[in-house]
Amino acid sequence: MRELELQYEGKSKLIYATESSERVVIRFKDDATAFYNIKRAKIENKGKMCCDISSMILGYLNANGVSTHFVEQIDQTGQLCRVVEHMPLEVILRNVIAGSMAKRLGIEEGIVPENTIFDLCLRDDKLGDPLVNDHHVVALGLATYEEIAMIYDISARVNNLLVELFDKAGITLVDFKIEFGRAADGTLILADELTPDTCRLWDKSTGERMDKDRFRRDLGRVRETYQEVATRLSNVLK
Ligand code: TMP
Ligand code: ASP
Repeated sequence: MRELELQYEGKSKLIYATESSERVVIRFKDDATAFYNIKRAKIENKGKMCCDISSMILGYLNANGVSTHFVEQIDQTGQLCRVVEHMPLEVILRNVIAGSMAKRLGIEEGIVPENTIFDLCLRDDKLGDPLVNDHHVVALGLATYEEIAMIYDISARVNNLLVELFDKAGITLVDFKIEFGRAADGTLILADELTPDTCRLWDKSTGERMDKDRFRRDLGRVRETYQEVATRLSNVLK
């Protein structure tokens, strides 16, 4: 399917129209950004690595009964995806305490709670992606209570599938962020990406961080680590 004009440029991705009104091409850039675009860098080959990783993960979710916007990977940095009406919400699931939750509540990183923790955040860089609850989401007109219940249900299924997948790759899925969109028929489907930019991944044997915290916290070897995640996932999924 032919790629047409650029529709949108985000921090790490580009979205192009196609000949079909139901499909877009999403291209992953080499840019890394953190702290709401304050910290920026280009990481060689990041676009390809993230495209590969997100394609593997979304393909795995599709194959396991979770509807996503992903149709197929078309080349090194591009994915053919379904057009969705994007919801400006970030859904974060936490299996291990880390990052903003550790900081905000004064808890040590690495503590494993008995339950899975779900955060909802408004996707708005200028406001710093503020934490919201179900009632805020309904009041803002972003979703109904029924849709929020569906979002929690799908997110829990995604978590179960991904914990199992990463476990086979020798990685603990500490936390991750997903986004949703409404497909043409109104159904809620998973949209956006799942990559080391949007997950916290800790090596099961060494505890080493294998995600964007390497960039955020200047831990070095970002490119090598993203490549290692891609290689391990491809070994598990082949
Ligand atoms: P946090 O600890 O900063 O709240 O992040 C939790 C997880 O969500 C972590 O894996 C990174 C991911 N995340 C994003 O991908 N984008 C975001 O804008 C935020 C706030 C978190
Ligand atoms: N919302 C932050 C950003 O867009 C999350 C992060 O630091 O990754 O940069």
